[in-house]
Amino acid sequence: MNYTLPKWYDLHVHFRQGEAIGDYIRAHLDMGCAGALAMPNTKPPVAKVFEADDGDCWSIEGYRDQLMKAGANAFEHLLTPLYLTKDTDASMIASGAEKRLLQCAKYYPPHGTTNADHGYPLQKFMENGVFEAMQDNGVILNIHGEEHGLSGEQYFGQNSNAEDTFYSTHMVELREKFPKLKIVCEHITTKTAADFVARSGDNIGATITPQHLLYTVADLLQGLKYHLYCLPLVKFEEDRKSLLSSALSENNTQFFAGTDSAPHTEKATECGCAAGCFTGLIAPQLYAQAFDLNDSNLNAFKSFLCLNGANFYDLNVPKETFTLEKKPSQVTALETSVGSVTPLSLGLGQDTLDWTIKV
Ligand code: DOR
Ligand code: ZN
Repeated sequence: MNYTLPKWYDLHVHFRQGEAIGDYIRAHLDMGCAGALAMPNTKPPVAKVFEADDGDCWSIEGYRDQLMKAGANAFEHLLTPLYLTKDTDASMIASGAEKRLLQCAKYYPPHGTTNADHGYPLQKFMENGVFEAMQDNGVILNIHGEEHGLSGEQYFGQNSNAEDTFYSTHMVELREKFPKLKIVCEHITTKTAADFVARSGDNIGATITPQHLLYTVADLLQGLKYHLYCLPLVKFEEDRKSLLSSALSENNTQFFAGTDSAPHTEKATECGCAAGCFTGLIAPQLYAQAFDLNDSNLNAFKSFLCLNGANFYDLNVPKETFTLEKKPSQVTALETSVGSVTPLSLGLGQDTLDWTIKV
């Protein structure tokens, strides 16, 4: 089996900062990416729009420049959201949008994941004019949808977890208060979130990662496979099935690819584990595996990987193509000047993929 598809956009990826940016971008180009949305949880964060604005953080202008110089100029599109912090205000949103540098902005739950320390509670942005300005100026909100500050049973319990809680409370309020705001529910992991999106209008979409389509918490725990440790955590089989059927649905226009590929040169630490799965070089092959890609679901796969995200962000569908072939291929670590990064499959003990990619 051999499928040729338009090149695709990874609408959620971490390219980080420093010397290895170029290696991470190259890994994306080599898996048929025509563009990417590069998340702003860098050190320091990308938390202002213009280089000349006040603040010690990086600007969208400055970060784009770094990415372009490191190879992102080979992409057809590069989206660079603003990190929403306590210092974000409505005038920043309006002026950034007016100059067309600001197309989207990312909400992080305070301290909720890697480099989320600058996050600020969602409720504040509902009241301080930021979401209103985003709605008025057509700026897309990228949401990491987990309730912050929970622990124990409330964080990850049998009947509920931080994502369930967030989607059944804040997201309902957000949708009601800002009905025209365009929202991407990032890396959704639960049936609750998938149902929320499916019951919302076309202004609300969602990214789904390969790992959340393929694995559950059992895969993480059996053998303590820490390369599968990412946030939000992989959940239960009912959740995984719900994500997969959302992605596979013939009518799906709201769910699309966003890998959350997050390189860490040190995953396991003395007292825990860095959150993030690296799927550079292997993401389309993993999505194909999750879909069990075949002639009958090819259209759904193409919509999910190549069309829905482009439509949501108003990007052209690339003319260039890449090919997926049902033939085993080897996975190797990505060597960079700052260290070696282990791709998810290798971290799970699999050095062979079912699919081969040709770009
Ligand atoms: O697992 C994750 N890793 N989730 C995130 O939200 C951030 C990411 C990272 O930057 O490593
Ligand atoms: Zn992410």
